[in-house]
Amino acid sequence: IPISRYRNFSIVAHVDHGKSTLSDRLLELTGVIEAGDSNKQVLDRLDVERERGITVKAQTCSMIYCDPETKEDYLLHLVDTPGHVDFRAEVSRSYASCGGALLLVDATQGVQAQTVANFFLAYTLGLKLIPVINKIDLEAADIDMARDQVEHTFELPSDECIPVSAKKGLNVEKILPAIIKDIPAPSGDPTKKLKALIVDSWHDPYVGVVMLIYIVDGYMKKGMKILSAHTDKRYEVKEVGVMYPDKLAMNAVRAGQIVYVIPGMKNPREAMIGDTFFEYGQHEGLEPLPGFEEPKPMVFVGAFPAESRDFDDMNDVMENLALNDRSVSLQKETSTALGLGWRLGFLGSLHASVFQERLENEYGAKIILTAPTVPYKIINRDGSEKIITNPDEFPSNDRYHDISSIMEPYVEAIMTIPNEYLGSVMSLCENNRGIQKDLEYLTTGQVLLKYELPLAHLVDDFFGKIKGATKGYATLDYEDAGYKKSEIVKMELCVNGVAQDALTQIMHKSQVMSRGKQSVAKFKEFLRFQLFEVAIQAKVNNKVIARETIKAKRKDVTQRLHAADISRRKKLLERQKEGKKQMKSTGKVHISNDAFQAFLKK
Ligand code: GTP
Repeated sequence: IPISRYRNFSIVAHVDHGKSTLSDRLLELTGVIEAGDSNKQVLDRLDVERERGITVKAQTCSMIYCDPETKEDYLLHLVDTPGHVDFRAEVSRSYASCGGALLLVDATQGVQAQTVANFFLAYTLGLKLIPVINKIDLEAADIDMARDQVEHTFELPSDECIPVSAKKGLNVEKILPAIIKDIPAPSGDPTKKLKALIVDSWHDPYVGVVMLIYIVDGYMKKGMKILSAHTDKRYEVKEVGVMYPDKLAMNAVRAGQIVYVIPGMKNPREAMIGDTFFEYGQHEGLEPLPGFEEPKPMVFVGAFPAESRDFDDMNDVMENLALNDRSVSLQKETSTALGLGWRLGFLGSLHASVFQERLENEYGAKIILTAPTVPYKIINRDGSEKIITNPDEFPSNDRYHDISSIMEPYVEAIMTIPNEYLGSVMSLCENNRGIQKDLEYLTTGQVLLKYELPLAHLVDDFFGKIKGATKGYATLDYEDAGYKKSEIVKMELCVNGVAQDALTQIMHKSQVMSRGKQSVAKFKEFLRFQLFEVAIQAKVNNKVIARETIKAKRKDVTQRLHAADISRRKKLLERQKEGKKQMKSTGKVHISNDAFQAFLKK
């Protein structure tokens, strides 16, 4: 099949609008899988994904479609993309390998935030979009409303919409002819020198690292030596082939195809999404493909084993998990309160919770996680900059004379909400220090709202809050909006004057009072039953802003005495007082790991 008859496409959709179901139907129509196969939703592979109903890793599948008019075969590559915004870099690389995309809209729900955000990404990358309206079998389906939205929100002609039911298979056969007619063929040249883009990679327990690669120019075959443009490392191709739907080895693959490659790579972190491969020895003067970005962690947490003796075992587990996910950053960390542990960086809070779940599911590991923090940037007077990812390392006011400004990361949040909740969502955004950017009434009783929000508020379950404010009807997506100067301070939690490093938090000045009060009150709950008086204080720049006291628990040392034995009673009480005084001056409050764990668990 010549490159002019290749079509690479993906599906742009909001969660649950039916991307996996539609993918299955297309694979059935082209005979890749059998209809009614128990192997349902082949494209969603990982367990965690299936459990949460989200696609985390991109998977692809090739198919051959015979044009009924010309009787010519076409080679189609469907590139699945993660739906969630945490994985935006992976989404853009997937789109970069495609000439077009199906824009899938649920006829009962209409356009949602994730569709909007992914649409803009696909549109900016120049993809040809084919609107598909799904779930028309449902009674609540409103096809005209969906058409209208497609026309108004995306400025796509509404008569190009294909109404389908992916579940029932209704009309789905109309999609394939539209793909070959409307989506352009890849523009690469098989006779040029090899240039290939890493779209995705994963670890296969049997064959090691597997990469999903878009061959832009040239060809690739078994035994070829390839060179990474960004790491400068060399590999020998052990196997190449297409996903059909599992790995199907081929002798050679060429320009325009999206294929899997087994490079015999030891360290999975060397496979970087967006990296370019050349043929070794044929790479002189070639420029890498554009769009490479180092993964940028946005949320950091400290992680500590609940039992400190577990550190070594867990270290292997952590390193292994981090090795397999190049977007996780991992560093060792020591806390006075919790001992040896790690600082982990994630792309977003979903990414963090998926990682944590894997840790617990696959390894049964018990870990204590500190409150998440975002990367703050300190700009010093001498012009140097520092990114702070551990709250304990945030400077206190005694260092302020060195600092010219403190910067806080922001995102632009895109939300779709039913009209009647506009007021409550706007006040939620304002309460979270949001800055309104855009407000647009959609034709369907929904509002498209854009706000700039501090990332710190976004990762503090903003999505949960906005769902709460809209009976679950709001949808949210976001993109990086850079750093802004901000009044950020560090709040320490002290127990009898000793700051508990694992509980230090960084926050905006406006939050210290409420968060301070809340923290001391909550920590008090978990510290009951001390034999002497304990003061729990929240301090900002060495100033106490909130305090709770736990009264000493008094043991009744006199209970076994006869009531008349006054002098003996006095003596005992004296001695108890003495003992307490001593404990107070020298005694260290022992805080059990359970108390930290209980406190840190939201
Ligand atoms: P993510 O993988 O979470 O992004 O979801 P998805 O977009 O892949 O959606 P999926 O295909 O898993 O479908 C979500 C739900 O909608 C499932 O319960 C499907 O059975 C259902 N569904 C999909 N297409 C149709 C349809 O045409 N009609 C009806 N009635 N239900 C559908």
